[in-house]
Amino acid sequence: MKRFAINDYGKASEVFEVIDAQPRDVSEEHIRVNIEAFGINPYDIGVRSGGMKQIRSVNFPYVLGHDGTGIVTETGSQVTDFQVGDAVIIYPISGTYGEEVVLPAKKAVKRPESMSISEAAGLPTVGITAYNILHQLLKVAKESVVMIQGASGGVGSMLVQLLKANGNYVLASASSKNEELVKHLGADEFVAYDIEDAGVVFSNRADIVIDATKGSRSAKSGMAILKENGTYVALNSIPEEKERTKEGTYIFFQTKKEYLDKEAFEALTTLYKNNQLEINIAEVLPFTLASVIKAHEEIEGHPSAGKIVIQK
Ligand SMILES: NC(=O)c1ccc[n+]([C@@H]2O[C@H](COP(=O)([O-])OP(=O)(O)OC[C@H]3O[C@@H](n4cnc5c(N)ncnc54)[C@H](OP(=O)(O)O)[C@@H]3O)[C@@H](O)[C@H]2O)c1
Repeated sequence: MKRFAINDYGKASEVFEVIDAQPRDVSEEHIRVNIEAFGINPYDIGVRSGGMKQIRSVNFPYVLGHDGTGIVTETGSQVTDFQVGDAVIIYPISGTYGEEVVLPAKKAVKRPESMSISEAAGLPTVGITAYNILHQLLKVAKESVVMIQGASGGVGSMLVQLLKANGNYVLASASSKNEELVKHLGADEFVAYDIEDAGVVFSNRADIVIDATKGSRSAKSGMAILKENGTYVALNSIPEEKERTKEGTYIFFQTKKEYLDKEAFEALTTLYKNNQLEINIAEVLPFTLASVIKAHEEIEGHPSAGKIVIQK
């Protein structure tokens, strides 16, 4: 079984290789999935480069990948939700970069018939992260005005849409080239960070600010947008206490065991079926090692909005 593995930390062009892996056994609560497509996330780049090895070290050869979609080929004796032949969307703790993965059934959901393979491969990390921030961490009330920085990104675009589905008023920022996209997703007001300072335009307007930019780059303007005693959430790093310009609750988002992927997946696929959720795909690349390297190199820079997916 072909899998795309890293044999060390380092540059994508130097550490990725194709390995011929032995299939794993399927235990009682697991399913085996023949992968049709997998998605790439900035997190994967952090693990592969070694930039995250203090908090996330791996044994080589290591197969990256949380996001995928495919067909169930075997089910464990305790699995009741899925049958062989079902098309599923999956969110395992690793291993989607390849032809097959074995994962707990609770980390999968049936793929809606109307959802394309590439959309399904692009959904898990960004959709589940956005759902967990809004509905598990914050339990966001529909009356809250919420500012999304990085609204054109994978997580940001999900946040905007989930907030609109929840009835919230949404302020958003991203680069000017993505203004149309972010407004189309439902943002009520938009500021292009490369033209204006959102911190000035939206000063003191948001009950909640979520910094979903890559690397949490927008703290200063985010704090200017936050109302006094509001809630500030960042996906990468929150401002240190001495840098904070507003009183409030500051949270660095991290997933927790009690956040159930099944619940998030059910909510996301329901919204998709109700035409309330779009999954923006930037690029679909062929199922080759060269594609995996290309995707990593693109995501390392400042890519176009939308997910990059590798599809058979
Ligand atoms: N803590 C967690 O559990 C968790 C979970 C998922 C993701 N993350 C992290 O969250 C971040 C976003 O992930 P993603 O998948 O949504 O990434 P993404 O799709 O690449 O989106 C990045 C966003 O950042 C914006 N951006 C890029 N450079 C910027 C700059 N210099 N100033 C302001 N905004 C800038 C982009 O806007 P434009 O392209 O319009 O410029 C885009 O909206 C990543 O760092 C990821 O590792 C954390």
